[in-house]
Amino acid sequence: MKNNLLDLTLKRRSIRNYLNEEIDDEIIQEILNVALTAPSSWGGHPVHFIVVKDKNMIQKIAHCKAMGAAPLTKAKVCIVVMADTSRCELWIEDASVASTYILLAAEQFDIGACWIHIRNRDGQIKTADEEIRDLLNVPNSFRVLNCVALGKKGEFKNEYLKENLSFENIHYEHY
Ligand SMILES: Cc1cc2nc3c(=O)[nH]c(=O)nc-3n(C[C@H](O)[C@H](O)[C@H](O)COP(=O)(O)O)c2cc1C
Repeated sequence: MKNNLLDLTLKRRSIRNYLNEEIDDEIIQEILNVALTAPSSWGGHPVHFIVVKDKNMIQKIAHCKAMGAAPLTKAKVCIVVMADTSRCELWIEDASVASTYILLAAEQFDIGACWIHIRNRDGQIKTADEEIRDLLNVPNSFRVLNCVALGKKGEFKNEYLKENLSFENIHYEHY
């Protein structure tokens, strides 16, 4: 059976090196359009996105995460994914689903992407989340889950193979 979504998810890998080429604004908008279709608890759509293309600002955002933000420093675009916690109960789940949609949408346009985690990560002085919110003037009721680093692919990774998927993780009727 033809499964276009499986074809896409097999191809998607975390890409952490990017070419020194811009991503078309139209592609970024299409990726965001997909993210806006993500399901959310009670349909509240509490997830917001800050699209950052300014190179200096991307470096500053990366600096807000004490360790492990190297891929972000190489990205052409950073999408900060956050949610208004005053408007939802399940903000982590809501923001996670939206982030996943971004990763898949990026792959559809052959754009490299990587989830750079922020929640529960140290910053330079405060938490990475607080430092990013301070930097980008985000209201207090918001929390940042992650940043998605985006850029034209600067590294090759093998696709996943359907026959190697963790089929043993699937249980029927009982464990
Ligand atoms: C919740 C979550 C947090 C992640 N955090 C980071 C991160 O901070 N930095 C990073 O380089 N990759 C991060 N990743 C990407 C994973 O390392 C990656 O998905 C995993 O190694 C599997 O590789 P693949 O994406 O190529 O399938 C994260 C992924 C998820 C789902």
